[in-house]
Amino acid sequence: VRGDINWGIIGSGWACRDFAEGLKHVPGARLAGVCSRSSANAQAFAQRTGAARVYTGVSELVADPSINVVYVGTPNSLHAEHCCAALEAGKAVLCEKPFTVSAGPARRVIEMARARGLFCMEAMPMRFLPAMDRVRAMLRDGAIGELRMLSANFGFPAPYDLENRFFNPSLGGGAFLDIGVYALSLAHHVLGPPQRIAGGAALGPSGVDEQSVAILSYAGGQLAVLSASLKAHLPGDAVISGSRGEIRIAPLYRPEWVSLRMFAESGGAEPAASVGWRERAKSIPGLDIAFAGGRRLMQALRPTDTGNEHIPYEGNGFNYEAAEVMRCLHAGERESPIMPLDDTLEVMDSLDAIRDHWVAAQQS
Ligand SMILES: NC(=O)c1ccc[n+]([C@@H]2O[C@H](COP(=O)([O-])OP(=O)(O)OC[C@H]3O[C@@H](n4cnc5c(N)ncnc54)[C@H](OP(=O)(O)O)[C@@H]3O)[C@@H](O)[C@H]2O)c1
Repeated sequence: VRGDINWGIIGSGWACRDFAEGLKHVPGARLAGVCSRSSANAQAFAQRTGAARVYTGVSELVADPSINVVYVGTPNSLHAEHCCAALEAGKAVLCEKPFTVSAGPARRVIEMARARGLFCMEAMPMRFLPAMDRVRAMLRDGAIGELRMLSANFGFPAPYDLENRFFNPSLGGGAFLDIGVYALSLAHHVLGPPQRIAGGAALGPSGVDEQSVAILSYAGGQLAVLSASLKAHLPGDAVISGSRGEIRIAPLYRPEWVSLRMFAESGGAEPAASVGWRERAKSIPGLDIAFAGGRRLMQALRPTDTGNEHIPYEGNGFNYEAAEVMRCLHAGERESPIMPLDDTLEVMDSLDAIRDHWVAAQQS
């Protein structure tokens, strides 16, 4: 694709409005049109965002030859259907997270995109922000030594409402699928696909998880501990821990703070001031060894804080993923190396495995 890129948006809700706002910060992006189930909604959306056209339905939008790429911003349960409609019409696709409600439909969408040679990507703004460029560079440079653990969480109390997709199973609700996916996507980005998964959940009256946790274990012995809640405020951050230090990323949803803390290597030289203690400890059988070990542990636990760096993003954050889609379309790339389709599929497989775990626990 050459020149400006024409975007069509399916849906007129919160994410669609923010995405349209984000497009204003991307040079060469043009909001060609929006479709909604209601023409009043579509008109209001167009007025607010400057969308050039309104369409009465998905089939009309995807049939417009001027549209290059379709953003799918409908409830989770409709993503697969809307992605397929766009791909069938020969359009590139950017689809909101979670890509689909389970791995089966994700596989079908991905196969269709690949069979037709069309660009397709899951929208996961966090991966494209400058703060994550910094984190990737730190990890590449081995800044925290060997990777050992990752923890990530996202949660806030949401009022119980079946109209809201958070709680509605037919709209693809559930804490882990809807907001735990940010933590899970980060774990997959940093550690790859896990070897084993365990999960636990508190299910609400509609049957979806209102709070849930997952523990992922990896072939190299690493562990990831992830949590999501629609009932409680969680810190909304992530910590990647290694043999020499840790990287903290906040907020998980739109990272803009990155802090690096380095810990002394255990086994290092003791400071001179401790020698007197050591001499005294030596006189007590067995304690000399324990004392030396304890001293080293204390040193190792006292970190060198290298600062909390603010790495702001421009626009509202949605613009970076849109810019990446446009870069790929201009370069003729069918997948983004930052959010490849295999990653999306592996995340969906993990989501299925996490859910299977708590369904099995419920039945036992
Ligand atoms: N990446 C992010 O940071 C981020 C943030 C929030 C949400 N999201 C994702 O974006 C998607 C939309 O979330 P949202 O918060 O924008 O939801 P929302 O405000 O409820 O908007 C969803 C839109 O989908 C359209 N729609 C089409 N068929 C529908 C149906 N059967 N039932 C309900 N709506 C239908 C509606 O537009 P019409 O009424 O005009 O048809 C509605 O406005 C979800 O997949 C969510 O996970 C992503």
